[in-house]
Amino acid sequence: MFNHRTFRSAATVTVLLLAAAGATQAQQAAPSRSDALTTADVSGWLQTSTPSGRIDRNNPFFQSLGSNGRSCNSCHRQAEGWTITPDELRQRFARSDGLDPVFALVDGAVSPRADVSTVYARRSAYAMLLNRGLVRVGMPMPANAEFRLSAVDDPYGYASARELSLFRRPLPATNLVWLTAVMWDGRETFAPFKPPMDAGIDLQDLRSSLASQARDAVLGHEQAASAPDEATIGRIVEFELHMVTAQVDDYRAGRLNEDDAMGGPDILTQQRFWVGINDTLGNDPTGDAFDARVMRLFDGWSDAAAPFRRDPRSRARAAIARGEQLFDTMPIAIRGVAGLNDVTGKPVIHGSCGSCHNAPNIGNHSMALPVDIGIAAASRRTPDMPLYTLTNNATGQSVQTTDPGLAMRTGKWADIGKFKGPILRGLAARAPYFHNGSAATLRDVVDFYDTRFQIRMNAQQKSDLVAFLSAL
Ligand code: HEC
Ligand code: HEC
Repeated sequence: MFNHRTFRSAATVTVLLLAAAGATQAQQAAPSRSDALTTADVSGWLQTSTPSGRIDRNNPFFQSLGSNGRSCNSCHRQAEGWTITPDELRQRFARSDGLDPVFALVDGAVSPRADVSTVYARRSAYAMLLNRGLVRVGMPMPANAEFRLSAVDDPYGYASARELSLFRRPLPATNLVWLTAVMWDGRETFAPFKPPMDAGIDLQDLRSSLASQARDAVLGHEQAASAPDEATIGRIVEFELHMVTAQVDDYRAGRLNEDDAMGGPDILTQQRFWVGINDTLGNDPTGDAFDARVMRLFDGWSDAAAPFRRDPRSRARAAIARGEQLFDTMPIAIRGVAGLNDVTGKPVIHGSCGSCHNAPNIGNHSMALPVDIGIAAASRRTPDMPLYTLTNNATGQSVQTTDPGLAMRTGKWADIGKFKGPILRGLAARAPYFHNGSAATLRDVVDFYDTRFQIRMNAQQKSDLVAFLSAL
């Protein structure tokens, strides 16, 4: 499956996509709901594809490699799109009285000093996991930063310059073959992945990055005394790199790869991709210009409603197709986004969702593009989040943020609040959204964009966009 990272001509790709669609329909003529690769979520069924057709539960991904009983699977679970969700965590809490290994002081609690002596105490200590699926990423202020930490307002009385508490969502441990930055702030990106599109080099960088990430996860989240051997890390990385996950079935619209639609993970494995593909800022190594039609999965359903307007399934399909149209074509006046407007020197960029989510049918950025869309801004702070005041050493200017993002790694003032845009597949199974879980539903995501960029979508447009995002 790795060859989809290499360059192919458009003609080859079309053939590949058609072949995959045909095979998929034949294999899945009688879908089996007990299939271990398929799990239910709020809007339908999520499927993970692997080359062997099964999930290898003997992989060290599922084994406790440290001292606290956790495995990668404590925070990256198949049915939750390979991350975790508050609902499932609350069930785990109830079953174990808050003693399941995911509930560990080191980064599961609001503070490593929280009281966890009783079940009631644990309920408060693990509130960020239970309410929002957030893990505490503890990071010291970067050395030689252009700014200093001038004030801390931590409701849990722990954070300081020695260790900021950054509450973040675990990113999905699937679809990783398309990553162009590892972690929300890209800090596990071993070498910046860049063109030329030599697949061997790309994958080498990606493998090294994921190996470094896995080592740090075992040492940090799993509290191991020493890193596991290379063979163990290698097995985890291969396991992660071979999974492809997407929504496969929608309660209202039916199978997402039927009647010329191209949803679901099997078709996704054939997706053509290279670092820089369809880049918005003109960095596609083929020299091709950016095509705003980033998502082209449901073209075939665009006239689904025409012949059968009263058939609910056709109407649901038409809504998904309209949502995809909106994603691709709805004009957004992008203003005040650090990493875009400042870099291009344009105060307004007339773009769309795909300006930032440009990787075709995948939805992350095809090159690392950390940007600040305002999720960590003080104005959006909720009382359960710490708030940090950062002061620029040179200018004396101050900003407040719940998470400095990329700036924690680079120490640069300009990088405060920058995060990567995640891959937009398998979304339905993994609410809440954004790095801090601030959008409880996909509707909340859409409302955020509507307000942030003053798009003025109507109710129909919002629900169409949600129908589309739910079908990814
Ligand atoms: C306690 C929960 C927890 C455990 C256990 C855990 N992770 Fe994670 N994982 C996270 C969080 C939180 C993030 C995002 C952190 C950030 O970006 O700052 C993350 C991010 C990742 C990413 C980055 C994906 C991307 O899109 O950049 C990968 C890959 C990953 N984890 C794999 C693993 C592996 C492999 C293990 C086991 C060795 C593991 N995780 C164990 C919480 C966990
Ligand atoms: C200016 C760049 C930009 C534009 C335009 C943009 N996004 Fe995003 N998107 C991002 C970034 C960056 C994030 C991650 C932000 C964070 O968590 O701090 C993100 C996150 C998301 C997420 C959450 C993913 C997850 O796993 O939590 C969804 C869904 C999403 N965007 C959909 C959209 C849609 C739909 C549109 C158009 C209405 C859109 N985006 C427009 C940059 C952008």
